[in-house]
This record gives sequence, structure tokens and C-alpha cells, in this order.
Amino acid sequence: MRGHDLFRCATLFAVVLCYATILLGGNVMASGNGLACPSWPTCYGNGNLLPNVQGGVAVEWSHRVMAFFLASSVLVLGVLAIAFERGRPALLKMSLGGLGLVVTEALLGGLVVEQSLAVTLVLVHLAIATALFGLLLVLALLANFRELPTRWVAWARRALDERPTPVGETYGEPTPAPPDPAPVAFAPREG
Ligand code: HEM
Repeated sequence: MRGHDLFRCATLFAVVLCYATILLGGNVMASGNGLACPSWPTCYGNGNLLPNVQGGVAVEWSHRVMAFFLASSVLVLGVLAIAFERGRPALLKMSLGGLGLVVTEALLGGLVVEQSLAVTLVLVHLAIATALFGLLLVLALLANFRELPTRWVAWARRALDERPTPVGETYGEPTPAPPDPAPVAFAPREG
């Protein structure tokens, strides 16, 4: 497998892991198990990497384990980008940006726990998660664009070519005016 193909697959892998981490985070929140593991990075702060995984601890721990896999995959993505994608600076920058975001998010996750789920921190945690997902999704699309089925590309081209219907003021390129309607012959009303 060539370096570019490895990079392409890594972007897809990372976007799926990010989605799974977000779902498991929502599960932690919805089930009220945010403090089932009261310490960070280990569950009870005793250096034991594998706590007794059941009940609320299982819910919280699964989110942390998935976040660990996500962070590792984004780290691999960054390394692959540096090795093989220096010729595509946009992809390289997005990969390194993703790495910065995921590290920030993991540290913030720890702070969320240490600060007993302070609302502002939980909201910033959610905001970074959605930004990271958006970035990884666009990166995966760009990196895999040439591999997309031709009918998907044709669909995207059509969508790009569509012009918005002008409402009030228009911006950007003026939309061509519709052709003049055919002149209607005036006929006086009878009677
Ligand atoms: C690194 C990738 C991570 C992502 C993408 C992520 C994402 C999320 C998301 C989307 C939520 C749900 C928030 C909501 O519904 O408002 C959440 C909740 C949570 N996350 Fe993370 N998270 C990550 C890492 C971590 C880590 C490493 C920890 C470590 C402790 C952590 C701790 C928590 C906690 C405690 C909650 C529940 C907050 C509450 O119950 O109020 N997260 N996470």
C-alpha cells in the first residue's frame, strides 16, 4: 500500500472513531455517569489502568478508552501527513490541527472530571468535539475525493453549479436574468 493510500485510510478510520467517541460521550452525559470515575487519567487515581468495569464505570471508561484510540489514530494521521502529504499543505495543516484539537480535548476531559463537571467546561468539551468531528470529516472527504464514485462527484458538481434564486439583494456573481416573457397581445374586453 502506498503512503497516500495509508493516509486516506487513516482519515476514514479517525472520523469513525471520533463519531464513536462522541456517541459514548453523549451516553456518559445522558446516563449521569460523568463522575463514575472520579479521577483522571486512571479511574481512581491509583495507577490501575483497568478498573472494575461495570455499571457507571463501564459507561465512563468506554468513553475514555475510545478517546484513547481516537487520539492514537489522529497521532498516526499526523505522522503519516508529515511523511507523505507535504506536497498537499492543506491536508498537512488540517491533520496537525486535528492533532492539536484532540490533545486539547483529552486534557480538557480530565479537567471536566477534576472540576466535578463544571458546566462551562462541559460545554467547551462538546464544542471542541464537534469542531474536531467537522475537521476530520472535511479532511476525509478531501483526502478521498479522487476515490469517490463518479456519480457522487457528478452530484457534487451539479450541486455546485446550481444558482440560488435571487431574493431581494443578490451577492457575488449576478444571476442571469430570465428571458423576457413572450409579448401578450392586448385584446379589448368584449361587452
Ligand atoms: C478526546 C476525545 C474526546 C471527545 C471527542 C469527547 C467528546 C465528548 C462528548 C461529545 C461528550 C458529551 C457532551 C454532551 O453531551 O454535552 C462528552 C462527555 C464527557 N466526556 Fe468526553 N470526549 C473526549 C475525551 C474525553 C476524555 C479523555 C475524558 C476524560 C475523563 C472525557 C470525559 C468526559 C466526561 C466526564 C463527560 C460527561 C460530562 C457530563 O456528564 O456532564 N472525555 N465527551
